[in-house]
Amino acid sequence: MNEFKPKRPMILISPSILAADFSALGEDVAKIEYAADYLHIDVMDGHFVPNLSLGPQVVGSLRKRSGLIFDVHLMITDPEKYADAFIDAGADILTFHLEAVDDPARVIEKIRSRGVKAGIAISPDTPAEAVFPFLSSVKMVLVMTVYPGFGGQKLIEGMTEKIAAVRYEAETRGLDLDIEVDGGIGAKNVGLLTSAGANVIVAGSSVFKAEDPAEAVEEIREASEASFSPEQL
Ligand code: DX5
Ligand code: ZN
Repeated sequence: MNEFKPKRPMILISPSILAADFSALGEDVAKIEYAADYLHIDVMDGHFVPNLSLGPQVVGSLRKRSGLIFDVHLMITDPEKYADAFIDAGADILTFHLEAVDDPARVIEKIRSRGVKAGIAISPDTPAEAVFPFLSSVKMVLVMTVYPGFGGQKLIEGMTEKIAAVRYEAETRGLDLDIEVDGGIGAKNVGLLTSAGANVIVAGSSVFKAEDPAEAVEEIREASEASFSPEQL
């Protein structure tokens, strides 16, 4: 498996609004509207993670201002209870944490029954194999590259093996799976993750704290594309 080189996937950049100015969210999102592919929206309940962020009302307000695909990351204890509210507010992809629920298949089914793409997230201590039973029913696996809860943390580089293990399993089974990575990512380190098999790149601080957020998105995209070796093209 060490020799395994995943085929080059479509790279999608998903800036995280957690690092934006919450008093001017609409303006900040407008800065990346034409540079980004997705908009990453972090939902925290102060219970699954030790921080609070935002709820469906904010998603609904942003929905009126942005045509981006809304990539909603639920870091909450009861995603099944709140799935409808986030879908009604405009989520296009709804991702919940495997660690938060007893029956992931039921939550996936609930999300898919509303015509929305389901994603399943794993925190740094959860092994790749934990998501294998669900790979054929989700669109995306989110491999956290920091402990969930806060923006601005440092990337845990050891997560590359987990990314490669999920990509290998998906390719072996012929699945068209997106692998998202989230936490501590910027143009300088994204190549480590894309060459391991990640293709949906979340970036908070490195985009919204940059002087020119659209340019920061482009730099991350270029660094991702440059990470592939010729045999992967
Ligand atoms: C962390 C969140 C991330 C966070 C990433 O729990 O899930 O999406 O916003 O922020 P940066 O890119 O600053 O690490
Ligand atoms: Zn996130």
